Amino acid sequence: MRVAVCISGGGSNLVALLDEFGAGSDVEIVLVISNRAAAGGLERARERGVTAVVLGDPDDEVEWIALLERHQVQLVVLAGYLKLVPRAVIQRWQGRIINVHPGPLPAFGGQGMYGRRVHTAVLAAGLGETAATVHLVDEEYDRGPVLATVPVPIHPGDTPETLAARVLEAEHRLLPAVVRAAARAGHPIPLPEPLEQA
Ligand code: GRF
Repeated sequence: MRVAVCISGGGSNLVALLDEFGAGSDVEIVLVISNRAAAGGLERARERGVTAVVLGDPDDEVEWIALLERHQVQLVVLAGYLKLVPRAVIQRWQGRIINVHPGPLPAFGGQGMYGRRVHTAVLAAGLGETAATVHLVDEEYDRGPVLATVPVPIHPGDTPETLAARVLEAEHRLLPAVVRAAARAGHPIPLPEPLEQA
């Protein structure tokens, strides 16, 4: 399966995918897309010979569609991509775009709920655990069907930063598992088994 990974920042989820799916795998990461030239993951993709592109205008669906078509992308993975994907792209790749979210959905998602804000809200809610979540992307932020989650415990004294680090580790296991299942099925599917707690 030919996969594009979209990033905005550090790209640690991208690296987890690149590590998992090396040469000879049935998953080929053919393209990395960023809305920011400074996104650390771009260089890491290029080091491994993957085409890495900075969007001229992240809101321009023509640019997106041309890129995805040129690289014959079958699955789009949003891995820390922090902008809304243009509606025409979501429609064209319907059921073939997934996103990793660092908290339980739908409770801790939606516009403006990203990064530290998610962990701050989870801690404020006084829950015993949080989760890493992968879901299908539709036209609303964080609202598409959930495909898989990993529960992540909250420890006494956790801060948004300590919790973020624990959730990120869980994301690094969860996202490759969902991509592998998608490659086997030919399209994203819910994971048959829940992943073990982090
Ligand atoms: C992850 O926690 C992801 O869920 C969130 O942003 C973070 C991205 O991390 N949306 P990285 O860029 O993959 O290191």
